[in-house]
Amino acid sequence: RLLIIDFGSQVTQLIARRLRELNVYCEIHPYQNVTDAFLADFAPQAIIFSGGPDSVTREGSPRPPASAFTLGVPILGICYGQQVMMQELGGLVESGHGTAEFGRAFVTPSDKKLPLLEGWFSEGTEQVWMSHGDHVSKIAPGFEVYGTSPGAPFAITADVSRNFYAVQFHPEVHHTPRGAKLYENFVRLAGFTGDWTMAGYRQQAIAQIRAQVGDAHVICGLSGGVDSSVTAILLHEAIGEQLTCVFVDHGLLRLGEAEQVVSMFRDNYNIKLIAADESDLFLGALEGVSDPEVKRKTIGKLFIDVFQKYANEIENAEFLAQGTLYPDVIESVSFSGGPSVTIKSHHNVGGLPEKMGLKLVEPLRELFKDEVRALGRELGLPDSFIGRHPFPGPGLAIRCPGEITREKLEILRKADAVYIDQIRKHGLYDEIWQAFVAILPVRTVGVMGDGRTYDYACALRAVTSVDGMTADYYPFSHEFLGETATRIINEVKGINRVTYDITSKPPGTIEWE
Ligand code: XMP
Repeated sequence: RLLIIDFGSQVTQLIARRLRELNVYCEIHPYQNVTDAFLADFAPQAIIFSGGPDSVTREGSPRPPASAFTLGVPILGICYGQQVMMQELGGLVESGHGTAEFGRAFVTPSDKKLPLLEGWFSEGTEQVWMSHGDHVSKIAPGFEVYGTSPGAPFAITADVSRNFYAVQFHPEVHHTPRGAKLYENFVRLAGFTGDWTMAGYRQQAIAQIRAQVGDAHVICGLSGGVDSSVTAILLHEAIGEQLTCVFVDHGLLRLGEAEQVVSMFRDNYNIKLIAADESDLFLGALEGVSDPEVKRKTIGKLFIDVFQKYANEIENAEFLAQGTLYPDVIESVSFSGGPSVTIKSHHNVGGLPEKMGLKLVEPLRELFKDEVRALGRELGLPDSFIGRHPFPGPGLAIRCPGEITREKLEILRKADAVYIDQIRKHGLYDEIWQAFVAILPVRTVGVMGDGRTYDYACALRAVTSVDGMTADYYPFSHEFLGETATRIINEVKGINRVTYDITSKPPGTIEWE
């Protein structure tokens, strides 16, 4: 396995992602945890030093442990990783002198051949992404220069005899278009055969779960989303009867959703499942609430209370399973620090394990979303389930701006079902990241037949996105929109006006609240 030492770059996860695409197993660990003892125990086959925001010229800035350089394994240093490698091995790094580079740059190769660069330079120079204030001003003994850019005379350096490689730019990002080639060469040089597969991961994860859990009982909160479903199925395969899932119906689910989830897990997988209908409790607490943050906090708190109530009934439960994914793993230094503003209070069961004295099992914490989907397929989950659009924890509450009433929820469920049916019928479901209806706190006048109507307006939302962080509205045809509006107004009593939301994110968000 390969070890990535994280010095706090924003893009460290992308390195892992590139490696997994090459079927290489890797783990990211923050530099603070990587001691000599850790390294000896981890026994990596190769190491990558990530970039990072600090300056190696600053006293006390992050360093790799000295033994990294004596293990005899290949090392690739990126950006800060390059600089720290040079500094530690006897080179020099300096700040200033107008050599900072941020953004696109072009690297020109030297005359000397380097196996790391095999097949990389396509047209004499290669576009790369730079982001550095400091620069290497003297390379370490044993190193040679294999590529330069205007701001980085040592853009690519290597000590071939020791298999140490150091680059100033970021080969993992999209703006280094052919950067994947460098990773491919690096893992080949390190002797990886690219045999890491989902089937292998499945077996490995099952063995790990068994080793961690022993004879104890595990509780898993099931939402019906892909992450928690894959977590539950994997755990079931690992520990069978030692698993109990809890599915809380907060009364804010889509049409038929609760039944679908329950039957899927009970009937198809024979998983022990507590299905808790707590809709009265949630809807009662939300009565008269129209502030989005109060809604979110009310639901989040009740969810934890309810979950705890049911979990307490399960004897000798010692573990709580969560579908935490790699991008959610916030122990990585990349995510620490920095005052970020709360846009929305996201719903999760954070804080619960400590409160209940439970230990965590997180079998997906090394995977990216698309890898979780691949694992789900590996575990036999139907494609229709795996490809489902994300659905937020607070559910329809945040698609019902203003006060939530049972009547509005009922109307919203029906309209949403018609909309999704339209999208599926037109074969568009898989092109869209997320699509839903929001029922607006506005009633408008209409005419149907010969009568006047005074009903709710609704907004259709459909976006494309890669990760939910940014999004564009989906460019439906006018025919599609017209047909859908007609169907909703004809089929759903209570709605007499349909609008289409064409806001991108930012400045909008995907959900309405
Ligand atoms: P926004 O509305 O913030 O949504 O642009 C981005 C993505 O996150 C989902 N979302 C949530 N998911 N709990 C969740 O599990 C939440 O509280 C929550 N709020 C928003 C949203 O559906 C979209 O996919």
